[in-house]
Amino acid sequence: MNYIDTEVIEAHKIKIINHLNNLGIENIRKEIITGLTSKQKTISSKFFYDKTGSKLFEDITQLPEYYPTRTEKKILKTIAPKLMHNLRHADIVELGSGDCSKISLLLNSIPKENLKTINYIPVDVSQSAVNESARNLVEKFPDLSIKGLVADFINQLDLIPKTSKRMLCFLGSTLGNFTETVTNQFLKNLSSSMNSGDTFLLGVDLVKSTDILHDAYNDSQEVTAEFNKNILNVINDLINSDFNINDFEHKAFFNQGKSRIEMHLIANKDVIINTPFSTTTINLKKGENIHTENSYKFTQAQINNFAKASGLNIKEIFTDPNNWFALVLFEK
Ligand code: SAH
Ligand code: AVI
Repeated sequence: MNYIDTEVIEAHKIKIINHLNNLGIENIRKEIITGLTSKQKTISSKFFYDKTGSKLFEDITQLPEYYPTRTEKKILKTIAPKLMHNLRHADIVELGSGDCSKISLLLNSIPKENLKTINYIPVDVSQSAVNESARNLVEKFPDLSIKGLVADFINQLDLIPKTSKRMLCFLGSTLGNFTETVTNQFLKNLSSSMNSGDTFLLGVDLVKSTDILHDAYNDSQEVTAEFNKNILNVINDLINSDFNINDFEHKAFFNQGKSRIEMHLIANKDVIINTPFSTTTINLKKGENIHTENSYKFTQAQINNFAKASGLNIKEIFTDPNNWFALVLFEK
């Protein structure tokens, strides 16, 4: 997560460009301080993913309680041959690509001859995730060209090339981390960037029993707690502040009315935070919380609303036998 320097990495078959500095570090700091000085203190979930945060998220995906990754991967393996066998002369764009292990499952089903005609474009705010996964992917798929973008997919969607035929992928239910307003705007923008015949594969986590949802975000090894608290280290780096993660407790619960998991950090004592980028200190009373993430859980009706908001057609919906997760294939 490098918001300051431009970084370009070039190797055989790989080119990665970091565009985050174009957002302006002052704007990033302003956004963080506005969130931390509001009545309900918030930190955007995009700040989870520095090198440590990306690694912690990968650890989360292996936890027995965290069902979404396992479930989505099983569906992907089943549908990959049908989706990928005939894809050629195209860009595969993956938004929030993370460790790229899911795209691997799709790339496995592209015949070697066709892979030579494909560009894979991972887009992620995490420089470490894009670098490491690109290295792993070229080893596994030496015929593939990788053009990584370290960028914010909400504010920098325009950077994604759109001249070739494209298959866009947004997996892991990362869409569920957006507010409803951002979701609708994002889908509209994405759709208007698509050409006729382009496809969009969206992974969405579905509503299920509260116990299963609760456990997925309150794992017994407390990796999710560590992931949640690490956001304060990321913020310390960005605004030179002095948050101490030991002053906070992890809290995650299912808000039934809003159909979302909410993650918060609760101050376990009165806390005063200093940063040279704010004229006032950031004060938290014991028990006060910082809202760090929403993770919406969806229904079929909401999937239909995504089609309406985007103007895209739903071609097919794939789910698992428990109906815990859905992969929705849209077409322009
Ligand atoms: N798709 C992967 C990773 C999901 S974790 C999977 O399903 O396992 C969410 C990913 O989105 C992280 O890698 C994070 O760095 C990235 N991300 C979060 N907010 C982002 C933003 N605004 N712009 C770009 N990437 C973002
Ligand atoms: C990336 N995103 C979809 C994850 C989720 O489940 O909302 C992030 C996460 N937060 C806690 N555990 C995993």
